[in-house]
Amino acid sequence: MEKTFLMIKPDGVQRNLIGPIVERLENKGFKVVGAKLMQVSEDLAKTHYGEHSERPFFGELVDFITSGPVFAMVLEGENVIKTARLVVGSTNPQEAAPGTIRGDFGLTVGKNIIHGSDSPESAEREINLFFDESEVLDYDLSNSAWIY
Ligand code: GTP
Ligand code: MG
Repeated sequence: MEKTFLMIKPDGVQRNLIGPIVERLENKGFKVVGAKLMQVSEDLAKTHYGEHSERPFFGELVDFITSGPVFAMVLEGENVIKTARLVVGSTNPQEAAPGTIRGDFGLTVGKNIIHGSDSPESAEREINLFFDESEVLDYDLSNSAWIY
């Protein structure tokens, strides 16, 4: 089944939103197959956000994502990459729809609460960047027959 990478950013962790956010993702029907609280190093931040290295806000982005612990997750589900991005909402929380994580919890693009992989290629890259193979588990949830 398809997997994606999500990361609650330092603002979400500091605002005690790990629980409410994970609850939404579990309620949607996604399966958590990997999760950890971690400190992102400057190197990891620069690699993860490499595609934005020429953007004017790159320094700010790296400083922000390394400013405190993040909660990194691997989620599994049918079409999870695209669907999790819908649950996350638009990049700018001021434009994100109510009912989405960014729409309900954020106010500024620089502090938009959560990251989600945007394609199968980034999902694979980011899962491998943040998680060892042994940290991503293969298991069954007893409720899956009621989702699929
Ligand atoms: P991620 O899931 O975090 O990758 O967000 P995204 O895919 O919705 O947006 P994108 O990859 O285009 O941008 C990456 C991150 O850069 C965003 O989540 C924002 O936090 C940040 N960002 C984007 N535009 C701006 C900006 O104009 N100013 C600042 N400070 N940050 C920005
Ligand atoms: Mg992105």
